[in-house]
Amino acid sequence: MVEAKERILYSETQIAEAVKRVGAEITRDYTGRLEETEDKIPLIIGILKGSFIFMADLVREIDLPCKMDFMVAKSYGQGTVSSGYVRIVKDIDTDIKDRDVIVVEDILDTANTLSSVCEILRARKPKSLKVCVFLDKKIDRKLQFEADYKCFDIENEFVVGYGLDYAEKYRNLPYLGVLPPV
Ligand code: PRP
Repeated sequence: MVEAKERILYSETQIAEAVKRVGAEITRDYTGRLEETEDKIPLIIGILKGSFIFMADLVREIDLPCKMDFMVAKSYGQGTVSSGYVRIVKDIDTDIKDRDVIVVEDILDTANTLSSVCEILRARKPKSLKVCVFLDKKIDRKLQFEADYKCFDIENEFVVGYGLDYAEKYRNLPYLGVLPPV
């Protein structure tokens, strides 16, 4: 385990409860309105790398047939402040035209990443596009962006663990922590 001196914001148990709740919300919202043919079941798109643990836990709480794909988007460099520039490093392999799509992301911060990703995906004409985030950071955003599903609202602190990194470290912490000021 990584040696960490960060303050715990949400424990493994609290995270598991929140993920279960959101998984149940998604299950409820999509049950019965889906065309459950092979090519029509919802597609869940994880934005890597940060979402990998949340995505893995969330999909196991969604009690519906679904498919998964991944996109790699990068907005931060090595630091703690968004660069404001989003790069799609790897695109999805799936055609999303007329599909119900749920984008899964670890954190909504400036919303640069999700705004860019959603703009790209909307242009491909999905039947619906919803966004599910693990964390929604309370900041004054230049970009207006609301997630459809979320586990937690957090203050404007730099958080690590449960997939989130600082310079690629801490992703494997099973809880969510706040790094002390450097
Ligand atoms: C982080 C995080 C989100 C994004 C959120 O990704 O995973 O994708 O920043 O910030 P924003 O709302 O200000 O765009 P990062 O670019 O650090 O890559 P990672 O997922 O590989 O950690």
